[in-house]
Amino acid sequence: MALLSNVAQRSWSNVKMRFNKTHVEKKLFTPGPLGCSRTVKEAMLRDLGSRDSEFLKTVKLIREKLIEIAEVSPEEFCAILLQGCGTYSVEAVIQTGNPREGGRVLILINGVYGKRMKKICDSIGIESETLEFSEDSAVDLGKVKEVLQRGEQYTMVAVVHCETSSGQYQPNAAYFVDAMSSFGAVPIKIKDGQIDYLVSSANKCLQGVPGFSFVFARKSELLKCKGNARSLSLDLVDQFENLDKTGQFRFTPPTHSMLAFLQALHEYQEEGGISGRSRRYKQNCSILHRGMEELGFNRFLSDDCSGYIITAYYYPDHYNFKFEEFYQKLSELGQIIYPGKLTNANCFRIGNIGDLYPTDMKHLLKCIAKVLDGMGVPVPVPVPAPGS
Ligand SMILES: Cc1ncc(COP(=O)(O)O)c(C=O)c1O
Repeated sequence: MALLSNVAQRSWSNVKMRFNKTHVEKKLFTPGPLGCSRTVKEAMLRDLGSRDSEFLKTVKLIREKLIEIAEVSPEEFCAILLQGCGTYSVEAVIQTGNPREGGRVLILINGVYGKRMKKICDSIGIESETLEFSEDSAVDLGKVKEVLQRGEQYTMVAVVHCETSSGQYQPNAAYFVDAMSSFGAVPIKIKDGQIDYLVSSANKCLQGVPGFSFVFARKSELLKCKGNARSLSLDLVDQFENLDKTGQFRFTPPTHSMLAFLQALHEYQEEGGISGRSRRYKQNCSILHRGMEELGFNRFLSDDCSGYIITAYYYPDHYNFKFEEFYQKLSELGQIIYPGKLTNANCFRIGNIGDLYPTDMKHLLKCIAKVLDGMGVPVPVPVPAPGS
């Protein structure tokens, strides 16, 4: 008797056919997953046992290098690697860093990832309070101070990459920064900023492949948190103690991603670390800004609060512009951009991080002009009226 029905066999042969097809190399102008260099991908082309001495050395070296890049001392901080994308580490910090009884997180929100922190608190039953700012402005430090001085006690203050500090007004609150898409390319003072936890992940500015994320934790803070986590796999204290004692992950490690990451760290160093990488990203970003301006596009954020990682652009105000069609036609030309993630504005986003260079940015701009022409959208594109 055949093991698979005819229908199932047909669908499997479709899968095979798709993988046999030669793929168009696509450039990713997104916030992630991001493109990686060929050499980073090639580093994965072998298998390693999770107990093998070479793998244990790889884990150790990665943890040490991360501490170096973060410019913190290994006596004070540790780097904890955790299987899974960035959100796993964000959740692990919230799980582990707040007590089972009486935990209360103040979340400073000015975008979607702050809202996700709130969702995480809700889903694991940790009380939280939010202080919201509009999506086109930075966190207002004056308002943050006011809330912190009100007399309410928090066990954690959480923010997406920002330079505020909780230490002065809330001595018992841990300060948690999500620096997912900035760590390694945008300077952040972990030690001087009194940060207790900071997260990022392998496939962001350090340009590894996806597969794991990492947490920098102040050891004195982390070690107070034994038994807090309501989850086994997201228990950061357990993960840290195991990594430190045995050099091993508790559960199946992403061995191939780790090999790729070691190569990515080597390439990061070769590029000149944070200064080299930020220089390239800034160059990519200014080519993008100039070119999009010439095409008539309007940026969502003003210069004073925009970074050099990703840019949101308003849709052109023209009846022929449909984002799905624009996206699809660019994808056919091998250019992957990203939909917007804003609550109140019709925007799309273009990232300039990962394995992207000025020539890639210039090519993208040419493709955008070509696609607009094909769609019958005039250049410079008509811009939406202010406030619409
Ligand atoms: C600031 C920030 N936080 C959290 C995340 C979520 O990370 P992931 O998609 O890897 O879970 C992202 C993703 O881009 C991010 O930019």
